[in-house]
Amino acid sequence: MIGLGFVGLTTALGFSDKGYKVYGYDIDLKKNEQLTKGAIPFYEPYLVEKLNEHLNKNFVIVDDLQQAVENSEMVFICVGTPSNTDGSADLRYIFEAIKSVVSCIKKQEFKVLVIKSTVPPATTSKKIKPFIESLGMKVGVDIGLTNNPEFLREGHAWDDFMKPDRIVIGQEDDKSGQIVEKIYQSFDAPIYRVTLNSAEFIKYLSNTLLATLISYANEQSLIAKSIGDIDIKKAFQVLHLDKRWFGKPANMTSYVYPGCGFGGYCLPKDTAALINESIKNAYSPEILISTLKVNNRMKEYIVNDVASNVNEKEKLGILGLAFKPNSNDVRDTPAKAIIELLIQRGYTNLIAYDPMAMEEFKDAYSLPIEYAPNLHSLLSEVNHVVILTAWDEFIKNEQSIIKKQVFDYRYLFN
Ligand SMILES: NC(=O)c1ccc[n+]([C@@H]2O[C@H](COP(=O)([O-])OP(=O)(O)OC[C@H]3O[C@@H](n4cnc5c(N)ncnc54)[C@H](O)[C@@H]3O)[C@@H](O)[C@H]2O)c1
Repeated sequence: MIGLGFVGLTTALGFSDKGYKVYGYDIDLKKNEQLTKGAIPFYEPYLVEKLNEHLNKNFVIVDDLQQAVENSEMVFICVGTPSNTDGSADLRYIFEAIKSVVSCIKKQEFKVLVIKSTVPPATTSKKIKPFIESLGMKVGVDIGLTNNPEFLREGHAWDDFMKPDRIVIGQEDDKSGQIVEKIYQSFDAPIYRVTLNSAEFIKYLSNTLLATLISYANEQSLIAKSIGDIDIKKAFQVLHLDKRWFGKPANMTSYVYPGCGFGGYCLPKDTAALINESIKNAYSPEILISTLKVNNRMKEYIVNDVASNVNEKEKLGILGLAFKPNSNDVRDTPAKAIIELLIQRGYTNLIAYDPMAMEEFKDAYSLPIEYAPNLHSLLSEVNHVVILTAWDEFIKNEQSIIKKQVFDYRYLFN
């Protein structure tokens, strides 16, 4: 497993749990060291327990890539694919990782490379395959090449990986696809072996639909506000009762619910990357362009709404910094953009509280704001609060929070 972030570590531990011997390698040696001590650098339920159960048994963390590759039949690439400034996917980590892996493989061994990172459709066939061949390996003959997109959600990574809805394997040659299918046999989920481009497309189909649903719900909430006298929370609750979409156990309701815009490591960058890819192929994807536009507009709307109600000299409480509850991930979190916009508008007296993500937010963005040690301490200092993450702690403390003027952009309270 190359790259031991949310996806790589979960995948490594998942396969260890299924009885496979997994070698984990991350270029970040500090991360390796922390993991080797049984600690993980982010919050994700069950992972610490699983790490300590399998560490140095089925799961071995190595500093030497050669050792990991030599002993493995398959090599999963799970490195990051962030956005470039034009929205396209930055593939440099993928190419660097592949280059180092390929240099450890001897031709006669036929190992299968599995691209688990999210990469735009046609990346494996049009960019990765020629790249591997430029390194002197014939794909399908000397080395196998597949992709295997991951659908896990942060905060539910373990359950999503162990009990997936579907397993998608993109392949060009049957032999490679079969090898990857074999290790998924003990998972109770349908396995789809499709072309390389289809597998990548299926992942973007999923993420961009989720992004579009969120922007749809947000746009509806703005329409409702502009009309007035509409109980937005109730309206969505009633919508959710339509069993064609939301019958149990299916549950997409959290995506069709207004908030302050989507964030995190997947939906914003993956939507931008598919737009970029599509435009490069001479098709302008209007719905997705609008999905991102509405997502950005939500942040401006929120800041305008606050600005028309609260004087910028007043102290303002920000509740929630993580991009979603039960996570300390602050990558592309709406809170960052909203706080920056508030500061630009002259709100320099901001105090924030998040049950889990304060250190991460502080380290990632160094914004000039105060951090409260707990919810009650924040509430004791402000008359106005802006809710940006739907944490349970806020719902449980509704009675204390509603004593303040609340900008409930997660529609938590009645
Ligand atoms: N986070 C999610 O919820 C999620 C869900 C599905 C898919 N994905 C996709 O999976 C991929 C990984 O996401 P993540 O959230 O796990 O990222 P992450 O940033 O948490 O982890 C990536 C890891 O790769 C390591 N790395 C980079 N270059 C390396 C190299 N050459 N060799 C070894 N290690 C290297 C980094 O040090 C880092 O630890 C991305 O493409 C992402 O879009 C993420």
